[in-house]
Amino acid sequence: MITGLLQFEPEFGNPKSNTEKILSLLEPVEFDLIVLPELANSGYLFTSFDELENSSEVISGSNFVNALTEVAAKKNGFIVTGLCEKSDDKYFNSSLLITPSGKIHTYRKIHLFDTEKKWFTPGSDSPAVYEIEGSFGKVSIGMMICFDWFFPETARTLALQGAQIICHPSNLVLSYCQRAMFARAVENRVFTVTANRTGTEDRGGNRLEFTGQSVMVSPKGQYLIEAGKNDEVVMTVEIDPLLALDKHVTGSNNIFEDRRKELYKL
Ligand code: ACM
Repeated sequence: MITGLLQFEPEFGNPKSNTEKILSLLEPVEFDLIVLPELANSGYLFTSFDELENSSEVISGSNFVNALTEVAAKKNGFIVTGLCEKSDDKYFNSSLLITPSGKIHTYRKIHLFDTEKKWFTPGSDSPAVYEIEGSFGKVSIGMMICFDWFFPETARTLALQGAQIICHPSNLVLSYCQRAMFARAVENRVFTVTANRTGTEDRGGNRLEFTGQSVMVSPKGQYLIEAGKNDEVVMTVEIDPLLALDKHVTGSNNIFEDRRKELYKL
């Protein structure tokens, strides 16, 4: 299964140019599953609800989503992308799974980071797992968004539902997620795909430097993909997702069966 990520620098408030850049980066690439960064249509540092309104999109009728749906069909591949979503006069920091047949599944970020709390409504649904099917067979995948990684329960919730690949659109500004994803992958024996963005945004008295260095990690903790800090790039790797179904660390240790739920506090 050809799986990977796209890393780029979105232009703030310009969904059209962001769509064009993504399309041109994806053009030469074959993939079964590709993951794009968080808020890939809009950029990150909002300073007003007018800006949010101008860059957010209702999924049905969104030019950004329609363009990616066409790519998914043409490439016969699945796309996971961050989206600044508008729905019922609310704004969500969302991730979409777009299938080659045009079906769209939505996850809305449940752990909002810092100033995101001012703009977005947190998701109220538990992270879900979807079975995707192609020439690679049937594979279960889940989505979480950026800061969700800080709450190990998010990845665990996906893994316990059978996720073999955790897709992780991100706009990372702290320096340690890329290393921490080693733990999320190993402790759940899953593949993780963290698609980060690059660049800086300096708006409304706030300056954020995004850390790039997108990573994909295997269930055994191998870094299968490591992007550079500033690269605008698509990187893919061939994986065997069946590896993520084996939860044994040793012949006598199954990481799910060995859990001592009666001793844990949530
Ligand atoms: C983040 O959750 N975008 C840091």
